Amino acid sequence: MAGQIPRPFIDDLLARTDIVELIDQRVPLKKAGKNYAACCPFHSEKSPSFTVSADKQFYHCFGCGAHGNAISFMMAFEQLEFVEAIEELAKMHHLEIPREAGHKPYVQGSVDDYNQMDKATKIYQQQLTLSATAKAYAAKRGLSERTIDKYAIGYAPDSWDLVLKQLGQSRPARDQLFELKLTNRNENGREYDFFRDRLMFPIRDKRGRVIGFGGRVLGDGTPKYLNSPETRLFHKGRELYGLFEARQQERVSQLLVVEGYMDVVMLSEHGIDFAVACLGTATSSEHMQTMFRFCPTIICCYDGDRAGRDAAWRALQSALPNLKDGVELKFVFLPDGEDPDSLVSKEGKDAFLLRLNEALPLSTYLFDRLLSEMDVTSDAGKSALWSKANEMISTIPSEFYREALLDKLANLVGRPRTVQTRTKNARAVANTPQSTKITPMRRAIALLLQQPLLAKAMPVAPELNDANIPGVQLLLSIQQRLLERPELTTAQLLEHWRDTPEYGILAKLALWDHQVAEEQLTQEFLDTFRSIEDQYLQQRLESLQRKDQLSKLSVAERHEYAMLLKAFKSK
Ligand code: UTP
Ligand code: MN
Repeated sequence: MAGQIPRPFIDDLLARTDIVELIDQRVPLKKAGKNYAACCPFHSEKSPSFTVSADKQFYHCFGCGAHGNAISFMMAFEQLEFVEAIEELAKMHHLEIPREAGHKPYVQGSVDDYNQMDKATKIYQQQLTLSATAKAYAAKRGLSERTIDKYAIGYAPDSWDLVLKQLGQSRPARDQLFELKLTNRNENGREYDFFRDRLMFPIRDKRGRVIGFGGRVLGDGTPKYLNSPETRLFHKGRELYGLFEARQQERVSQLLVVEGYMDVVMLSEHGIDFAVACLGTATSSEHMQTMFRFCPTIICCYDGDRAGRDAAWRALQSALPNLKDGVELKFVFLPDGEDPDSLVSKEGKDAFLLRLNEALPLSTYLFDRLLSEMDVTSDAGKSALWSKANEMISTIPSEFYREALLDKLANLVGRPRTVQTRTKNARAVANTPQSTKITPMRRAIALLLQQPLLAKAMPVAPELNDANIPGVQLLLSIQQRLLERPELTTAQLLEHWRDTPEYGILAKLALWDHQVAEEQLTQEFLDTFRSIEDQYLQQRLESLQRKDQLSKLSVAERHEYAMLLKAFKSK
């Protein structure tokens, strides 16, 4: 994904962006010593624990653990995807994003594609005002003018070529309509409107641009809902119906995940403005990530029937890898045969909100479901529960959640856990970089990340690549990067590892408070580096020793062996 925007461009963008200014425009900062501080925009707090470092071009919250560079800030604060964040920053600097040759550009949709979708939306909206049957259907479903307007609901008339005629005046325009799936082609190449005689629900992306449609038959025809297929604008696994509209609220503290378009719009009709729907697909991990980025509490609301329960279970599994500290996931099951649309219409807003208040916490639902499948009165059942639950729990990034669930699991199988006592502040503590164990390797990486100029002082030692020391390749590749681009800041360096498994630890090390005085840094770093080198030489010596006992050493090896022995004796 990131590979399609050239790396030097991203470096350049970060170099031009001042993170202090960028954040200050959104969250007013106060100078605090060398850094800047504010109350954290990512969790609620009374005293400021959110700090921004101008040197490192990095932010970090000691309360909730949020951290990152300018790109991460834009992603988290403006709820953007990676590429969108790059686009925003590029726009601020009036830069065009270059695309790497040979790659298809990541954002393939052009301004013109969005215009075309917008025009189609307007055609459908106008058609709804012209059709008595469609208006009657909308009214019968309980949709008010206000809701129809808010969701830009329209009507595709029973015509084969309304959109085709209005928007497809040239060959290129007709090709575009086909590619956006506003029209279809039969075997003979004849073109016709994709949506006919359906109530139209435009699907908007996070920025409010229409990227696809769902169309409902007015009667009992099939399929009940016809959805835009995947196009260059529309990716089902990523988009949520109603998210843009929910985001128009001042403050949204929770999102409700429901199954259908009608559920979203009818909840809104009754003043419940925070529902979203996955588009005829299971709730994916990407959906969960998007929602949690936007708001900390997600309630999944499904039918009480088997299909609903299975959907909820899949949603739970997609959510686990996204459970960070500070977020919450809950579940509501509706009575058989009801959906949020029917229920809110029947019992009203307050009764529906009461159901949400009584939502099951993740831990309750997780174990209820597992216990319903396994018989824990037997040892076999207990061990099955133990291993299944452990497997699931291990995918959770939040230590807080992991610990709580493991405690509960231990209770259920009657096997007490020996855990260190946790402080009241366990959540914050678990997240701070200080909780990372600092080995010499981590120390070296931390110092180099925080003080990129040290790369020049560090000896070039490619032979270390063979050392059996965790992290050594990472250290050398950071040095390599810095020798090529000595001007990189901490934030730019980290950017090179985004989306890699190392990113998490690198970010922690970039924030680790090393407490070394500035003038001592070079010496401290070199000492640390030497101790790593010694570790490697020790390994080398031992391996030569072993080889010497088993077979004959070559001349060069014998020479090296002698040198190593001498070096270690003199220590
Ligand atoms: P439902 O069948 O539960 O419909 O499908 P609904 O939302 O209650 O709609 P109404 O009240 O009958 O109008 C739930 C969701 O599954 C997808 C749609 O996204 C729908 O909103 N679906 C359903 C389809 O994509 N195609 C279908 O044929 C049916
Ligand atoms: Mn329904």
